[in-house]
Amino acid sequence: MRTFRNYTLPSHNLLSILFLLTFACFHGHDVQAWSKEGHVMTCQIAQKLLEPEAAHAVEMLLPDYVNGNLSALCVWPDQVRHWYKYRWTSPLHFIDTPDQACNFKYQRDCHDPNGVKDMCVAGAIQNFTTQLSHYKEGNSDRRHNMTEALLFLSHFMGDIHQPMHVGFTTDEGGNTINLRWFRHKSNLHHVWDREIIQTAAADYYGKDMDLLRQGIQSNFTDGVWSDDLASWQECDDLSTCVNKYAAESINLACKWGYKGVEAGETLSDDYFNSRMPIVMKRIAQGGVRLAMILNHIFGDPREEQGLLAAT
Ligand SMILES: *[C@@H]1O[C@H](CO)[C@@H](O)[C@H](O)[C@H]1NC(C)=O
Ligand SMILES: *[C@@H]1O[C@H](CO)[C@@H](O)[C@H](O)[C@H]1NC(C)=O
Ligand SMILES: *[C@@H]1O[C@H](CO)[C@@H](O)[C@H](O)[C@H]1NC(C)=O
Ligand SMILES: *[C@@H]1O[C@H](CO)[C@@H](O)[C@H](O)[C@H]1NC(C)=O
Ligand SMILES: [Zn+2]
Repeated sequence: MRTFRNYTLPSHNLLSILFLLTFACFHGHDVQAWSKEGHVMTCQIAQKLLEPEAAHAVEMLLPDYVNGNLSALCVWPDQVRHWYKYRWTSPLHFIDTPDQACNFKYQRDCHDPNGVKDMCVAGAIQNFTTQLSHYKEGNSDRRHNMTEALLFLSHFMGDIHQPMHVGFTTDEGGNTINLRWFRHKSNLHHVWDREIIQTAAADYYGKDMDLLRQGIQSNFTDGVWSDDLASWQECDDLSTCVNKYAAESINLACKWGYKGVEAGETLSDDYFNSRMPIVMKRIAQGGVRLAMILNHIFGDPREEQGLLAAT
């Protein structure tokens, strides 16, 4: 309190302006996505599950400077979404569903704010999977940049598994629900993008993201989720599977994301302890399923036919 007494009027105004700028920068869908950490872990999990043919294709598609590390570029789509050239990709990171409906219907929900069909994360995953499926045909398809298709697919498989990326329309997937995460300001969307991951890493893994990721991996190789692994990977038709991933997310958003949360409140231990397992499971599922898709499209051509049958 005492420090504030010394502020003169101009600096008070300056503070207000800074506050407004900060608020404006963090407002809306434009800024947030599964945090860097969420995307990196999803892609690291996926890359470790690639079969030799897919691993080779991914390596060929990545620029030399990342030394074959897919996760180093999995946040690239978030970095370019405001560039003029990539503005069209901005609606591809999420889906807005009707408030309180708690379900996902592709025809109803998969469009951009202007109503252009297929411009949502579910449409984008199918789009870039189809583009990549032509990679093996060699130089036959030069319309699309295969490196970008790989990075978009890898990123959007993360986004579609973040429950609040398939949230309600009015609150922009929780972005406008301002609240506190323990002692600092945040919003509900950001809690699911980043805060829960950060708090988990700090509380249990000495802030070491590699250890956190290893914990997630051991839970599906040899732990609580190992019996579920096969069912996570089941997919005969990509459009059906993608719709299922989106439906899972909005279900979780309703049951665990929005449930009992009011704007202005403080979320802390109770919320963290009950939601952390869900966040970790979604990161695992995103990684496992990204690997499944890449193994399909870069592996046996007969299987690839199956996956894309209906697109
Ligand atoms: C791959 O990139 C990620 C993200 O930049 C980084 O955290 C990780 O350490 C890298 N892995 C290797 C083996 O270099
Ligand atoms: C599919 O990708 C192309 C460019 O590669 C883009 O023009 C088109 O809008 C994309 N559509 C969706 C639904 O992602
Ligand atoms: C494909 O996209 C990447 C990333 O934007 C870019 O660096 C590369 O030059 C592009 N390749 C072609 C052939 O246009
Ligand atoms: C792995 O599973 C155990 C047992 O359910 C749980 O306590 C732990 O938090 C899980 N770790 C991660 C990173 O999800
Ligand atoms: Zn994103």
